[in-house]
Amino acid sequence: MNVVLGITGGIAAYKAPDLVRRLRERGAEVQIVMTSSAEEFVTRTALQAVSGKPIRSNLWDKEAEAAMSHIELARWADMVLIAPATAEVMARIVSGGAPDLLTTICLATEAPIALAPAMNHVMWSNPATQSNREVLEERGIHIIGPEVGSQACGETGAGRMLKTDLIAATVFNLTGGKGEGLLEGRTVVVTAGPTREAIDPVRYITNRSSGKMGYAIASAAAAQGASVILVSGPVNVSEPPGIDMVNVESAEEMYAATHEAISDADIFIAAAAVADYRPTDILQQKIKKNNEGMSLELVRCPDILASVAALDAPPFTVGFAAETENVIRYARSKLEKKKLDMIVANRVGRDCGFDYDENTANALWCDGEKAFPKSSKVDLARKLIELVAEHFYAVSASETQPKLTIISNND
Ligand SMILES: Cc1cc2nc3c(=O)[nH]c(=O)nc-3n(C[C@H](O)[C@H](O)[C@H](O)COP(=O)(O)O)c2cc1C
Repeated sequence: MNVVLGITGGIAAYKAPDLVRRLRERGAEVQIVMTSSAEEFVTRTALQAVSGKPIRSNLWDKEAEAAMSHIELARWADMVLIAPATAEVMARIVSGGAPDLLTTICLATEAPIALAPAMNHVMWSNPATQSNREVLEERGIHIIGPEVGSQACGETGAGRMLKTDLIAATVFNLTGGKGEGLLEGRTVVVTAGPTREAIDPVRYITNRSSGKMGYAIASAAAAQGASVILVSGPVNVSEPPGIDMVNVESAEEMYAATHEAISDADIFIAAAAVADYRPTDILQQKIKKNNEGMSLELVRCPDILASVAALDAPPFTVGFAAETENVIRYARSKLEKKKLDMIVANRVGRDCGFDYDENTANALWCDGEKAFPKSSKVDLARKLIELVAEHFYAVSASETQPKLTIISNND
């Protein structure tokens, strides 16, 4: 894979030689293009030594242009990665300007472009930067990170460049290249589908969950190298390959199976639509229709999410909130009330949510959110797992923060 690695003038440029090594370890050819500001932070000598190629920086360098013009570089690239990406280069790309070699290549390339932003957390949360991020994402440019953590400026917040090995793994994943998955060596427990709460030997209470979203999430996590245990209610979805399946029916069975699976889990993704209530007694014989009406007494089912989150050392936990109204408001309240690290909210209704192959979603966490426009559940699951991996590593890196758990009750 040919990677044009753009390095811009952020303090995190000192990590660029390590990023070059990580990319080359995975077999990439790396051509570095630096901005003039980047040269203030990291030397050409170091970068040339690790990349094994002359560094490009000046659009007007006649000798270099004669060897490989900016257009040839743009065609050569299988991926243009800018890491670190300054707030300034984000703005330049959004504007469509091409005042330097790097942004000219960005305009001229048909290869995917990925940016790993790195900046002070106030710069990152500035509405101008966030608006630029949104525009870039709308145009299909991948934004990798940043993560939350302590920063070079001495403050703490969102804006730190993601770890170099994670950036390299993400880049290979985006281009379908072979490399270590984002969740290599991690164990992920996913619950999916509905539960069935028996009334008598032939009847039960259930819901419309198809299991498609949970199964897609399990597959996406496995594709990223995780060992996945999928605890599934009754569904009509084929078992994904390479995943340990545990089939259950009721909420109580799902509770027991989840707790058996969770002890070594790094991440828990509860995508199942677990029944909130079950009949107090399961009748041994079929109920006869002898009366005009009848009442069922119900009792609360165990709250799997709450029980996992209450463990002494809970795994990273993320939740889904399926709502028919006030989707974001209810989801944020659930995120806070249940002290989740992330929640994925989506609307369920006539033409969205349960049993459909496409979905939209909003992922929310304590100080941010990300909207996912309508896409197939498979595509959405892939993006969600990338986001989860990003937060998982960000939170893991910060000893002061709790683990992340993904909870879903929506398919
Ligand atoms: C010491 C120092 C550190 C800086 N660190 C960052 C940074 O981490 N992120 C950022 O977006 N800008 C940072 N800047 C500002 C950029 O260097 C500046 O916006 C520059 O114009 C970026 O140019 P470039 O995007 O062409 O490399 C820093 C500036 C200085 C002087």
